Amino acid sequence: MNIRKIKSTENTPKELLLLADPSEDIVNDYMDRGMCYIAEEKDEIVGVFVLLPTRPETLELVNIAVTEEKHGKGIGKKLVIEALKKAKTKGYKTIEVGTGNSSLGQLALYQKCGFRIVGIDIDFFTRHYSEEIFENGIQCKDMIRLAQDL
Ligand code: COA
Repeated sequence: MNIRKIKSTENTPKELLLLADPSEDIVNDYMDRGMCYIAEEKDEIVGVFVLLPTRPETLELVNIAVTEEKHGKGIGKKLVIEALKKAKTKGYKTIEVGTGNSSLGQLALYQKCGFRIVGIDIDFFTRHYSEEIFENGIQCKDMIRLAQDL
């Protein structure tokens, strides 16, 4: 698998980005400002992640997604590890990520990759998303904020 920055002339993998974030408006907003990386296997895009500088020395992993047929094969973990490496190489000191209270697999993945829970943005999803989101039988209401020093 090869991970590389997407070229400005290439189309962004919209469907994949929307897997991680159902709001097209929010995705479009950070795609204009963020750094988008894609993972390819034999010229086929299997994953994506987006890093967005948010404050001096801090960036946020604002999107990460793997094609559904490839879930559970370790690609997501490789992408998170690569995102950490890229952030460190670029001189950032802190990386943050946010996920839903109902996103149990994502919470496991981020913590396995060294992130710690640093806060909760109560009602983030009920305030910013028009549709109700349910995962694992739990309504997604709050954003769990995680971070790690690089
Ligand atoms: N409990 C415990 N561990 C879990 C878990 C659960 N419910 N669900 C996943 N994990 C663990 C896996 O066991 C694995 O850890 P391990 O390597 O120690 O076994 C780790 O999380 C990640 O597994 P991996 O196979 O690398 O993940 P993936 O390739 O399926 O990618 C996502 C993970 C989240 C990127 C993928 O599921 C996805 O694209 N989801 C849709 C988009 C999305 O939700 N993005 C994140 C938005 S916050």
